[in-house]
Amino acid sequence: MENRVALISGASGGIGASIAQLLTQRGWSLSLGARDPDSLAQRFPDAHVVRHDATACDEADWVDAARARFGRIDAVICSAGIMVPEDVVEIEDETLDRMWEINVKSPRRLARAAWGDLVACGQGRVILLVSLSGKRVRSAASSSYGVTKHAALALSHGLRRKGWEDGVRATAVCPGRVRTNMTRGVTGIAPEDMTQPENVADMVGLALDMPNNASVAEMTVNCDAEDQY
Ligand SMILES: NC(=O)c1ccc[n+]([C@@H]2O[C@H](COP(=O)([O-])OP(=O)(O)OC[C@H]3O[C@@H](n4cnc5c(N)ncnc54)[C@H](OP(=O)(O)O)[C@@H]3O)[C@@H](O)[C@H]2O)c1
Repeated sequence: MENRVALISGASGGIGASIAQLLTQRGWSLSLGARDPDSLAQRFPDAHVVRHDATACDEADWVDAARARFGRIDAVICSAGIMVPEDVVEIEDETLDRMWEINVKSPRRLARAAWGDLVACGQGRVILLVSLSGKRVRSAASSSYGVTKHAALALSHGLRRKGWEDGVRATAVCPGRVRTNMTRGVTGIAPEDMTQPENVADMVGLALDMPNNASVAEMTVNCDAEDQY
């Protein structure tokens, strides 16, 4: 478990930044992808920081750069994501395509590009920040986001199946409301009553540390008594 290397997308803020913080404290070597790498370099001076835009299909370049820097990749953590609050009738194809690209296709490309490294280390880990919106459709309002997150959940299970014999374990982390930029406009609940990004980071830390014979396929977490399925 020493000298492990993780790639984290979406590390510039919210849940991804909390995960990067936790793994730094735990001695991981990190390769962080961000649209504005300069901001990350200041916050995580020891990390390898790479420009990554999930809409630019540049995941293979990022993985090549991380491999060149560290010589191994033990975990891929996909936290980059967007939520456009539109229902499945009103949303334009273009907008849905953008969410699809960032929430589903980019994590797949990242896992794919690092697959050989994850297999080579014998206990590779893939963590996808999915959502409870990937498990149930609570209302029409954000149902387009739910379409992409249901796909992300299926992606996580697909990766889990694909990697099982090679020791790769995939975990879908499915929170309700978490106090980040994404929930800034949410009313009816105070930010301090939401799940905190550090709580989600702790869950990711646990999933990363579990041995191959204790695979955690899904983790849900709530700040209130909302539906799980
Ligand atoms: N907050 C919640 O209540 C909640 C609940 C369930 C699941 N989630 C999921 O958790 C993940 C993290 O969300 P968060 O709450 O931490 O939200 P956040 O604070 O808005 O962070 C989103 C991250 O995604 C990055 N990102 C957005 N578009 C990108 C692109 N085109 N290319 C690369 N990176 C991009 C952002 O980078 P920039 O700084 O460059 O914009 C940022 O680092 C997401 O997948 C989200 O769907 C969140």
